[in-house]
Amino acid sequence: MSESKRESWGSKIGLILAMAGNAIGLGNFWRFPYVAAKGGGGAFMLPYFIALIFIGIPLMFVEWNLGKTGGRYGHGTLGPMVYLEARTKLKPRFALGWGAAAGGLAFAVVILVNSYYNQIIGWTLGYSWLSLTGGYADVGKSTVDVFLDYIGNPVNMVFWIAALAALGFAVRRGIQKGIEAWARVMMPLIYVFGIALIIRTLTLGTPVRPDWSPLKGLEFIWTPDWKNLNFGSALSAAGQIFFTLSLGMGIIANYASYLKPDDDIVLSSFTTISLNEFAEVILGGTIAIPIAFAFLGPDGIGASVGLSFISLPNVFRTMVGGSFFGAFWFLLLFFAGFTSAIAMYNYLVALLEEDMGVNRSTGALIVFGLYVLVGLPVGIEPTLIRGSTAYLDAVDFWVGNVFLIVLGLIEIIVVGWVVGKKGLDQINRGSYWKLPGWYYRWFVQISAPLLILVFLVGYVLYLYQGGSILGNSLKNIASGSPWGLAGQFVVFLVLILGIIQTSRSIRKTYGSEIAANAIQIVKE
Ligand code: PHE
Repeated sequence: MSESKRESWGSKIGLILAMAGNAIGLGNFWRFPYVAAKGGGGAFMLPYFIALIFIGIPLMFVEWNLGKTGGRYGHGTLGPMVYLEARTKLKPRFALGWGAAAGGLAFAVVILVNSYYNQIIGWTLGYSWLSLTGGYADVGKSTVDVFLDYIGNPVNMVFWIAALAALGFAVRRGIQKGIEAWARVMMPLIYVFGIALIIRTLTLGTPVRPDWSPLKGLEFIWTPDWKNLNFGSALSAAGQIFFTLSLGMGIIANYASYLKPDDDIVLSSFTTISLNEFAEVILGGTIAIPIAFAFLGPDGIGASVGLSFISLPNVFRTMVGGSFFGAFWFLLLFFAGFTSAIAMYNYLVALLEEDMGVNRSTGALIVFGLYVLVGLPVGIEPTLIRGSTAYLDAVDFWVGNVFLIVLGLIEIIVVGWVVGKKGLDQINRGSYWKLPGWYYRWFVQISAPLLILVFLVGYVLYLYQGGSILGNSLKNIASGSPWGLAGQFVVFLVLILGIIQTSRSIRKTYGSEIAANAIQIVKE
């Protein structure tokens, strides 16, 4: 009964824009430029594209498939989806284990990644406002101080709450009238603002020094200097692929659960990836890095998280038309962030609908409250200790990196190996392009799981031996700050709650077949 009432996407273009909105986020514009710059510019792009082709694209097909299959049974969350796939070959009791692990990880990711992601969305909104009102225009005050004052002032949390309320209102209206409608407005604007900013960037000339031209900045990311390539940067490239494509989070599968049985997967996933990569490599790569280079030189792009919020305001305040272009940049970030965060928000609402039987409006309200609660420590820490974000860093380190990879591995093993060849038929059903058997074998079944495994083991060993990725090492995450420790405590607490919640959710529908340890519930 309930699944007959399940919503589906209103149109093909709406679906694609929503999926692209899901993938295109702060990851593309805020994270990618500094991760690429830190990882060695041109040399970073090699492992980046390898990870895209051998892990990202295959895993994208798999997530769409999980979602579409789960949606047929009325599920929008990952636990039951993975359970259903796993039981095609495994006994229901084993399948329950896979489902609970996957669902638990996804639960932790959608609650905790958004706990800081929503805060950053708040910053982008606040900074759009500052751009227009001259809030960082005073050249006498360093943009570092502007930023630290901004995140240190609790009043600025209004931007975060406002963004969160807007997300809640959008999700409350459902798939078509909420998510799809917002994506239709915001996604095209991202490209419009992005292209306006690129034109401005490429016509900057050489405002500071004759050898600091925007094109030189582009050269930096496109000319590989192999001595910059090392294991740490390769790992961060693969991590970026997960993050930017929203893989290992459960949210692509959630959106795919609103597909109809004969909707296309292959072409649609591929289109989502192409739109995301265009936004990331072309728009994301051509704006921040060359602007920063033209004004600040090679050192300006080596900057870290501060590239968007510290280096670029430095530029906007001196460039002609800077307050507008500044506002364009931060609004672009805001739209990108909004259409991603909404996917995690929706995942949790779907979970409440499914497991607690609440309606969408109540669900949206509960998730609002939850996100306020889990976002508070992220917001409060820098107001108490100037510039300190140890809690955020610790949470991001685990859920924004490690959890995604582990979850991706589970998904690809379950679909590629447990379901096996039948997974190919599921992906191809209704698809305009069909994936050939050799692709499925070599990419989905072999290269992706193998590379993810290498990546995961490499990651652990590298960190264990004291290496650091994007400035995070086990040592600085684990030691010292009580905020960092609290962050890690919360991460594992939520993970455990997630595993318990998921296994109850799976048992709720499939308890009888798990007890009998034989499949009983089948839908065609
Ligand atoms: N792909 C998204 C991004 O690049 C990842 C994400 C989605 C993060 C939803 C948070 C919430 O930003």
